[in-house]
Amino acid sequence: MNPVLPVVDDTGIWDAWMSMLNVPAISAALELGIFDSLEKEPASAELLAKRLGYQVRAVRALLPVLTYLGFLNEYDDSYKLSPLARTYLLENSPYSYAGVFSREGRMLVRHKLLIEAITGNKEKHAGRDRPAESWESGQVDMEMAKEVTAFMHSHSMAAAVGMTHSIDFSAIRRVLDVGGGSGCFSIALANLDKEKSCTILELATICELADEYIADAGVSGQVDTTSIDMFREPWPNGYDAHFFSNIFHDWSFDTCRELAKSSFDALEPGGKILLHEMLLHDGGKMPYPAIAFSLLMGIGTMGQQFTLPQLREILESAGFVNVNSCNSYGYYSIVTGDKPGT
Ligand SMILES: C[S@@+](CC[C@H](N)C(=O)[O-])C[C@H]1O[C@@H](n2cnc3c(N)ncnc32)[C@H](O)[C@@H]1O
Repeated sequence: MNPVLPVVDDTGIWDAWMSMLNVPAISAALELGIFDSLEKEPASAELLAKRLGYQVRAVRALLPVLTYLGFLNEYDDSYKLSPLARTYLLENSPYSYAGVFSREGRMLVRHKLLIEAITGNKEKHAGRDRPAESWESGQVDMEMAKEVTAFMHSHSMAAAVGMTHSIDFSAIRRVLDVGGGSGCFSIALANLDKEKSCTILELATICELADEYIADAGVSGQVDTTSIDMFREPWPNGYDAHFFSNIFHDWSFDTCRELAKSSFDALEPGGKILLHEMLLHDGGKMPYPAIAFSLLMGIGTMGQQFTLPQLREILESAGFVNVNSCNSYGYYSIVTGDKPGT
């Protein structure tokens, strides 16, 4: 039976959770001289990264957060300091808060990881702090698999049930849930309709865990798992839909194009790709949880949040047509594309 929709959506939770990045964003920018540099000369993210020798992906993710917080103003893709930042966030200002943020930053793991992401000086393998390093190698040990899968399940459960109340999935029968984690999306689809079957394509340790979530949900007759490394092994055929939740946001544009191509090649003609992602709006500057989530991806993965035009370009590069999106639950959307039929 399809579980009832939560009585309120989870946007308030995301607002509170993502606000954790506010202090590291300020403390890292101070430590790395970003405010001082922009005071000397306003710059685009690309120009600033080049000027200071920093990683452009991380700088591109950081500046919209600082802008949202009121420290930068952006005109024509160029960022300059606001009066607030000029008064309180320059090292040589008499009212500088550098002392506060230097101490606060020192106490935060996210500050250290953000500095590493921006400078590119990653001292050592960060293990559970940067799971995408293990995902890329295709090897995730059970300790990490348990922590990360419980984390994903926790932030995806409401969105999984929510999407089944807002999106019409009636045309879809056999779903391959790529990187499906705990399986919460497949479980929600199975609960929606007894005629649907889903397979979770995951790394071996996560499949073991997903099997437990599936059994606990009582949908073992409709949902199974297949242990496949999506980068190194062939994808199974016979599915009329490929569902990716929070997968594209972990990877570079080029890797996303490869994932889209693998999906296109394995899908049945006339099949559908569905990307469940928190989309950036307004040229990548809003809404706040999505820009902060993008910064989190900059710290812990090889990716970022996308705008619809960016995902459309990626899917069309693989051959998908009719790429569109609609809001599915809270801040999340589903982007769909069709593989032309024969
Ligand atoms: C951000 S989580 C998303 C989990 C789930 N779809 C959700 O939205 O809650 C990314 C998932 O991709 C899986 N993954 C990463 N690299 C993979 C690979 N090489 N092959 C198969 N799955 C992989 C991870 O194990 C992880 O569960």
